[in-house]
Amino acid sequence: MIERTLALIKPDAVARGLVGELLAQMQGSGLRLAALKMIRLSKAQAETFYAVHRDRPFFESLTRYMSSGPIVCAILEGEDAIRRYRDLMGATNPKEAAEGTLRRRYGVSLEANAVHGSDAPETAVFEISFLFSGLESGGERL
Ligand code: RTP
Ligand code: MG
Repeated sequence: MIERTLALIKPDAVARGLVGELLAQMQGSGLRLAALKMIRLSKAQAETFYAVHRDRPFFESLTRYMSSGPIVCAILEGEDAIRRYRDLMGATNPKEAAEGTLRRRYGVSLEANAVHGSDAPETAVFEISFLFSGLESGGERL
């Protein structure tokens, strides 16, 4: 099934100049880049984006970090896109991520792990509609 997933390049990776390299690897994996932009989230917007984690001990630190600088937001599209992009990212903790995955190669810590990807179809719909307007996400046109 053709799916869409939300990919983020997190503040640590944008700050280290890794945007071009990470986008190239996303596209090189065969996923289609269907939308793209750079924004900076406010603390409150990061809290809404990560609302599922609001009771976790790392919520405060995570939302502070995610609003600390610009991020790049992309919609990736393709067959089984959600799982394929999760596989490309690797495990949450870069130290536990498999060789060759984005987090293993570019992540610096459990929190500053370079990239984000939606984890399920419902999450992808929420995250895409939170970060992209209908005009930007293209609907049928792109
Ligand atoms: P993501 O949402 O960023 O794609 O990552 P994920 O699904 O692999 O991990 P998730 O459990 O959703 O956690 C979201 C982000 O929170 C940070 N985190 N910190 N300090 C901690 O114990 C901890 N655990 C998770 C990471 O930045 C993780 O990507
Ligand atoms: Mg997650």
